[in-house]
This record gives sequence, structure tokens and C-alpha cells, in this order.
Amino acid sequence: MPFSFEPITVLAPATVANVVCGFDVLGFALAEPHDVMQLRLTEQPGVVLIHEDDFDLPTEPSRNVAGAALLAMLRAVPEEVGVEVRIRKTIMPGSGIGSSAASAAGAVVGLNTLLDNRFSKPDLVIYAMYGEEVASGVRHADNIAPAIYGGVTLIRATIPAPDIVPLDAPPLFVTVVHPQIEVKTADARKILKQEVPLRDAIRQWGNVGGLVAGLLQHDYALIARSLEDVIVEPVRSILIPGFQEVKDGSRVAGALGGGISGSGPSLFMLSQDEATARAVENVMHATYQRLSLDYHTYVTTISSTGCQILTEAPQGV
Ligand code: HSE
Repeated sequence: MPFSFEPITVLAPATVANVVCGFDVLGFALAEPHDVMQLRLTEQPGVVLIHEDDFDLPTEPSRNVAGAALLAMLRAVPEEVGVEVRIRKTIMPGSGIGSSAASAAGAVVGLNTLLDNRFSKPDLVIYAMYGEEVASGVRHADNIAPAIYGGVTLIRATIPAPDIVPLDAPPLFVTVVHPQIEVKTADARKILKQEVPLRDAIRQWGNVGGLVAGLLQHDYALIARSLEDVIVEPVRSILIPGFQEVKDGSRVAGALGGGISGSGPSLFMLSQDEATARAVENVMHATYQRLSLDYHTYVTTISSTGCQILTEAPQGV
């Protein structure tokens, strides 16, 4: 067999989907946190999953997001080969910062590397979406695409094929707060209205266009004006304690804006500089301490790289 059976290590980033107004069509990769995965080819066909973390995730491949993505990819590989994956997650499942997408994207990027990069990035998005389907019942790509491409991505379409447009964004700092409650994406999708009044749709696509133009033109004021969601946020924000306080306080602290990260419960805010991003973090501290709710914050940036292959495994993997 022409393949190498040496293991490789993949860093798979957290991601923020929707970016307020772009439900299912916009997302970006975060510089931290990330999951660490180690993959190696096996002569035995199929997928073997080993979780090296405290999350109680299924290890049966068809019920696991990484496993389902890998099974879909292996179906397109004519050679008799399998893969063993060791996963150490730090992105908590159900946090709203693309935990399932990190597993699925990291898995397919890793396997592609072991298979001499025979698949294109749009192909990898297709396989990774099988993982998202296990997690939420829907093949959405707004976490997967930025996890694979890095940076900010527009998912213009996924049907009939992924049409992913990487967007050249200006430097942005991201403050994330993860209140320690779990919101399942499947549940957060079920509560959405299936029909949208035309006036709301007009306002929303104005914002999506404005946000994309603001990113491409590096126009921070336009980005700030466009970070508005009149369709999904009014429904989902009721699931997240402290939502309005964080949102209003962050704007007062100088943030450009922000909202629910993916389907929540994490919230994210964008800022032009690190000092503002830290001031926003203080707003989040104050909110969740007042509410006596456990939480975790990150002050980070948009990562221009998606999943990364490490040439040397970090210690403990
Ligand atoms: N666009 C998806 C949703 C992202 O909001 O349901 C889930 O992370």
C-alpha cells in the first residue's frame, strides 16, 4: 500500500456561526480554543474512535460527528483502508462555538492529509457536513467551512454543491462568553419560525450584504451597523440568561456589536482593538457574576487558518 501509517496531529478550531445576521451562511474561525486530534491509517477498513477527554461522547462511528464524517469520506476512497482517531476535545459540546464542527472538520482534514490531499476543500465540507447532521439533524456548513478554510467564510450555497466564499476581513478581536448551560442546536432550530415576514427578510438581507461589504472594505462602522438580526435572535435570545445585558453593555464598552454564537448559549462580541475586547470581557464577568451563573470567557482573534496539521504532536496526545 502506498500510504504512510505514521500518525498525524490536527488542531481543529472553534468557530462562530451566523455572525448575527447570517443564519446558516456566515461563520468565522477563532484562534482559540481548539481540539486536538491524532489520526493514523489502519489496514483494517472502518473507523475506530478513542476519546481522551471527559466528555461522554459516543464512540460508535455512525453516531459520532467525527466518525460519521470519516465514514462518508471513506466511502469515496477505493482502497481498502481505515482510520483510527484519538480525540482530545477542549471545545465543550453544546457550547455554541462549533464543537461538533471542529471534530468533523478536524477528522476530514486529517484523513485527507493521510490520503495525500486527494480531496478538495469543497469535498471536505461535504463529508464534514455528515457529522453536523449527526449533531443537529441538519447539514449546515457555517461552522464547518470556517473550520476548514479559516478566516470568515460566506456559505453562498450548500446545494447542489458547497459554494464557499472566503472573505478578507480586517483585524478583529473576539470576546466570547460561554454561560455554563447547554443549548442543543437541534432544539434551538426547532423553536425558529418557518416563515419570515417580507419586511424582516428585507432588513436581514440588507444587513448580510452590509456585513459582507463592511468586511471586504474594512469598514468598521458598516460592520457595526450590520450586526443586527431581526429573525433568529429575537426567538433564541430568550434561552440565554444575561443576553440583553451583555449585548447592551458591550456596545457601551465600545464593541462593534455581536450576539449569539451559532445556536448559543455562547455569546460573542467583535471589537476593533484588544483593550475594547477586554472591556467587553469585564461586562461579561459582571453580568454572569450578578446572575450567579458559572461561565467561561475567551478574548481571542479571528484565525486566518482553519484546521492545522502539526508536524510534531503536542505533549500528552
Ligand atoms: N447556523 C447554525 C444554527 C449554527 O444557528 O443553528 C449552529 O452552530
